[in-house]
Amino acid sequence: MSDIIINVQNVSKSFGGVQANTNVTMQVETGGITGLIGPNGSGKTTLFNSIVGYHPIDGGSIQFEGQEISKLPVQQIARRGLLRTFQQTRIYGAMNGIENMLISLPHRKMKIWDALKTYTREDYERADHLLEFVGLYEKRMLKSGDLSFGQQKLLEFAMALMNEPTCLLLDEPTAGINPTLINGLIDRLKRANTEFGITLFVIEHNMRVIMNMAETIYCLAHGELLAQGTPDEIQNDQRVIDAYLGAH
Ligand SMILES: Nc1ncnc2c1ncn2[C@@H]1O[C@H](COP(=O)(O)OP(=O)(O)OP(=O)(O)O)[C@@H](O)[C@H]1O
Ligand SMILES: [Mg+2]
Repeated sequence: MSDIIINVQNVSKSFGGVQANTNVTMQVETGGITGLIGPNGSGKTTLFNSIVGYHPIDGGSIQFEGQEISKLPVQQIARRGLLRTFQQTRIYGAMNGIENMLISLPHRKMKIWDALKTYTREDYERADHLLEFVGLYEKRMLKSGDLSFGQQKLLEFAMALMNEPTCLLLDEPTAGINPTLINGLIDRLKRANTEFGITLFVIEHNMRVIMNMAETIYCLAHGELLAQGTPDEIQNDQRVIDAYLGAH
């Protein structure tokens, strides 16, 4: 049996009267690419938020590398190497690419602009290298708020890599990205997986992307696990077609 890096068991989460996740159980294999799909509002982002400690869960268990993390604060989980990106990017528009890369490193207890003076030559070199990796090297001195939405998502991906994660959760990495840039992004995601050895867990609405990338795919519907399997199995699963793929 292969190694499991994230083990979600019977996780439930509600917001007031809204049951966003109900008894969700799924596993992410170490070193692989796992997909998470499902209709809008089916609880995908909520599950990611639960895994990274963004909010407490109502019930169930979440293990990372064999250890329970469901009661740990978000910073402690991040320090263990489990990071996520957001459906809406979170970059500082007034800062350039390099500055955003640097401040994505664990914050020192000082104002952001002061913190920028404390980074080492190695930090700057790594920022340069990763910006080159995502294809933003030429734009690294531009105000990040002036980048296109797709470029901002590439920057956010590079910022996550800056922290050398073991496992990265990506919430709709290709959403809003120009179709001509998507292939390049898929290539970078796969290279982050194979060359840097980062386990990826990816939410996607773009079926071409996720079917092409993931080895295992989970499908949520109404907050519950509807199906799991290989891309082939998922594409031919009548429940998934009825609940989701039929509309795509
Ligand atoms: N902070 C919150 N407060 C109240 N309700 C919330 C909150 N976050 C999510 N929800 C609700 O939980 C349900 C699941 O939302 P979630 O964002 O997890 O879905 P999703 O599968 O990521 O959808 P999408 O594909 O549109 O991003 C929705 O009904 C949503 O309105
Ligand atoms: Mg979402």
